[in-house]
Amino acid sequence: MYTSKISGLGYYVPENIVTNDDLSKMMDTNDEWIQERTGIKERRHIKKGDGNSTSVMGVKAAKIALERAKLTKNDIDLIIFATLSPDMYFPGGGVRVQDMMDMSTIPALDVRNQCSGFVYSLSVADQFIKTGMYKNILVIGSENHSGGLDMTTRGRAVSVIFGDGAGAAVISRSESKDRGILSTHLHSEGAHAKELSLEGPSTEHWVPELIEENPKENIPYFPYMNGQFVFKNAVVRFSEVINEGLQANNLSATDIDMLIPHQANLRISQFVQKQFKLQDDKVYNNIQKYGNTTAASIPIALTEAWEEGKIKEGDLVVLAAFGSGFTWGSAIIRW
Ligand code: ACO
Repeated sequence: MYTSKISGLGYYVPENIVTNDDLSKMMDTNDEWIQERTGIKERRHIKKGDGNSTSVMGVKAAKIALERAKLTKNDIDLIIFATLSPDMYFPGGGVRVQDMMDMSTIPALDVRNQCSGFVYSLSVADQFIKTGMYKNILVIGSENHSGGLDMTTRGRAVSVIFGDGAGAAVISRSESKDRGILSTHLHSEGAHAKELSLEGPSTEHWVPELIEENPKENIPYFPYMNGQFVFKNAVVRFSEVINEGLQANNLSATDIDMLIPHQANLRISQFVQKQFKLQDDKVYNNIQKYGNTTAASIPIALTEAWEEGKIKEGDLVVLAAFGSGFTWGSAIIRW
């Protein structure tokens, strides 16, 4: 069996910065509330006409990752695309990337696991590499949240949290037994599907029904989040799945060189950091600059941490995510 390693990383965020003060001009909110509850100072939003979309941003991140992997598009055997905000209801973003990058007729797979999308995608890529079926896989997480948020006071508890952006990783075959992705662990709990969800348009809430019923509150084509319930579940599941990964590899928290949690909320990351008694330099957070970019948050943070020289060869890097579904997962990587 082969091992898989991350051979290239890249990210892209739109230029348009939206500060908490900018949001306070659109809805009844303020910088102090947002920073205190979430740690977020600003986020990026696609601007109408700037040419960006979920898949366009994915392509921009992917090109950087490919270059850093010293590979070309012709070396890629499979695209895995994670998003909750595809350009179109169907088909998904994977085939759009394949077309925009002119990648022959290689397969493209879409992953719908929201904030855990990147960890799930990494796990799928890892399995394909391990069995020898593919040599190089392009994994992308990308989100265009801003176009689908309720930017009025009614939606403030959700819309201040999310931002747009994309991250990408090239996963490649490695002959090394003790380097690369050591393990991935995935979970879900559909009983809580509606606690963080966007119900329509969907086959349960199809467009004519939405137009006809269009209630003033809880409009089903804007995301709904039971914030405190999500928070309580997130801190438990993050810790469980990190422990699960460490134990499977006979490792402990003291072995972690860098924890990159999904950037859900700075308070969640700080809670997890405290539970594992990790020093500040062992946990990477950039939610302050980008907000929560869902499937893109881990690859953006991983790329930035690597660019800043905070991840070195031989380091134990732990990725962990929790999000809508609920779904959660971890990846333990020896860099
Ligand atoms: N600005 C100002 N006031 C606000 C805002 C806002 N943007 N949003 C809500 N409020 C008000 C509420 O209306 C409420 O007012 P009231 O007391 O008069 O009724 C008050 O602030 C408190 O609201 P809560 O919802 O109880 O606030 P809470 O302290 O729970 O914070 C938050 C909300 C930040 C969403 C929190 O629950 C949370 O972080 N939850 C975790 C969810 C999360 O991280 N989601 C990220 C996406 S999911 C994922 O990636 C895992």
